[in-house]
Amino acid sequence: FHGFNKFFGEQQVLNGIDLQVQSGEVIVILGPSGCGKSTLLRCLNGLEVAHSGSLKFLDRELLDKATDWRDIRQQIGMVFQSYHLFPHMSVLDNLLLGPLKVQKRQRREAQQQAEALLERVGLLDKRDAFPRQLS
Ligand SMILES: Nc1ncnc2c1ncn2[C@@H]1O[C@H](COP(=O)(O)OP(=O)(O)OP(=O)(O)O)[C@@H](O)[C@H]1O
Ligand SMILES: [Mg+2]
Repeated sequence: FHGFNKFFGEQQVLNGIDLQVQSGEVIVILGPSGCGKSTLLRCLNGLEVAHSGSLKFLDRELLDKATDWRDIRQQIGMVFQSYHLFPHMSVLDNLLLGPLKVQKRQRREAQQQAEALLERVGLLDKRDAFPRQLS
């Protein structure tokens, strides 16, 4: 973000944001409720309009009219405060939906990655569970 502004009507929610995040860097955005944290993340994913300034991802200016957000969103993941899984699909099938349908990846390779990620967060034993069976 460089000199980035975002308005809701008259209200300016993000004011001249300058923020650079390097590949592999882990950062925390901290602040009181209503200060604009979610709005910042939503802008990063093209879920908000009415902004100005500059927003670059891998040297691409995302505020250009020509930006294909469906393409960008495949590379910028976002977990919402209230997340939604498809209730009729297992944990694994929920995880594989995007990689198989949108990214057209091979099931074998995508499933290997999904299982490795589940193992990393200690949820591999829930692989075949349905969302209602999870806490
Ligand atoms: N769709 C919207 N229309 C109008 N105003 C909005 C909209 N979404 C958020 N706002 C306002 O923008 C400001 C920032 O909201 P935002 O949700 O980004 O805050 P936050 O930092 O994520 O808060 P929290 O910690 O509660 O999640 C708030 O004043 C909020 O009321
Ligand atoms: Mg929020």
